[in-house]
Amino acid sequence: MKILLIGSGGREHALAWKINQSPMVSKVYCAPGNAGTSFICENVPIAADDTEKLLSFAKEKSIDLTVVGPEQPLVLGIVNLFEKEGLAVFGPSEKAAELEGSKSFAKEIMKKYNLPTADFSTFSDADSAKAYLEKKEYPLVIKADGLAAGKGVLICNKKEEAIAAIEQIMEEKLFGQAGAQVVIEDFLVGEEASYLAFVDGENVLPMASSQDHKAVFDGDRGPNTGGMGAYSPAPIMNQEVMDMVTREVAEPMVKAMAKEGRLFKGILYAGLMMTSQGPKILEFNCRFGDPETQPILLRMKNDIIPIFQASINGSLDQCKVEWSDAPAVCVVMASKGYPGSYEKGLPISGLNSEGGLDDAMVFHAGTSLKSGETVTNGGRVLGVTATGQHIQGAIENAYHAVSKIKWDGAFYRTDIGRKAIKT
Ligand code: AMP
Ligand code: GLY
Repeated sequence: MKILLIGSGGREHALAWKINQSPMVSKVYCAPGNAGTSFICENVPIAADDTEKLLSFAKEKSIDLTVVGPEQPLVLGIVNLFEKEGLAVFGPSEKAAELEGSKSFAKEIMKKYNLPTADFSTFSDADSAKAYLEKKEYPLVIKADGLAAGKGVLICNKKEEAIAAIEQIMEEKLFGQAGAQVVIEDFLVGEEASYLAFVDGENVLPMASSQDHKAVFDGDRGPNTGGMGAYSPAPIMNQEVMDMVTREVAEPMVKAMAKEGRLFKGILYAGLMMTSQGPKILEFNCRFGDPETQPILLRMKNDIIPIFQASINGSLDQCKVEWSDAPAVCVVMASKGYPGSYEKGLPISGLNSEGGLDDAMVFHAGTSLKSGETVTNGGRVLGVTATGQHIQGAIENAYHAVSKIKWDGAFYRTDIGRKAIKT
């Protein structure tokens, strides 16, 4: 089979690595990919959101299966476009991807079907949003409605901050059109966890649990990022909790989407807050998490291709996934300045093209090749991912590999995985 993988992050390098292991696969193209994917696939210089060009490429190369990494092409309707041409593509349709593309849509559907989530209100003008702040308690959470690369959520500790947040999002348009509406949501207290499942429109096949680290600095301090590290499994989501989330969150949501005429296929990702009243939904995403995918795929024993096919064909009830007992940890190495502005093009030392480093896999994210040398090309640069017999061993293996990789201004959190030891 010839596969087209869309995206250029750490998630896509991990997917490329996993897809390449399938005996069913003869060739993998990655559009646009990064330095890491170029070592194991053929990179194609087409942007992930250039859906028409991707379609022409898939037709020209007779691609058998397209796997979409990021949310943008999904929200733009790449699945509809490919399906119309009779091409097999893994992911949700445009209408189903709205679950991630619009936070107000997601909150309305959660409310309509009584799924556990924080109370909220939606506003499309700044004055009414500000008026609503008068009667609220703090902290309060203000979210840009549309896609904002994980950065469109502001936690406000007092009214003045909330007013400033509304002005930034709705008047100064910090997140562009994504801020045309805001969702204002009650603050939830607890530990976060990520629930990801393969879905085929009806059946839900959960993956192993995982936990992200969203804040940029140790101890969950500083602004939110796309994710500074992850581990799997998350002890806070034991089997009992996973089953409960499948029953009370994932399955009802998949049913709800079908009922709304928005059949959901692909990955359903629920970001959860484990509150004292049980798990509550922070958000839904319609694709693999980044960096959660890196440790999750390191633990996945099966060939992933039949699972993609079963999601497309509606036969996930016939599939089983097996997970290695060895926990896995991914430490993200980032560029100085991230999640703000940062320099690009800095040479990285300590890597090899096989991707392995001692006991770890180095999944590339923001990297590119310049005269044969791997250089930085993004905020999140590498996801160094390792397994271990226990979580402590996985942490040590990951950080051991991290210590060998250098570039000017590289930084990373030093406490990835610590919460798994505490619990
Ligand atoms: P979201 O993109 O909606 O998942 O929000 C990004 C991050 O903001 C989450 O991972 C949480 O850390 C935080 N967050 C979002 N909603 C809430 C909430 N209602 N209460 C507390 N923290 C939240
Ligand atoms: N790790 C967070 C996300 O993928 O949205």
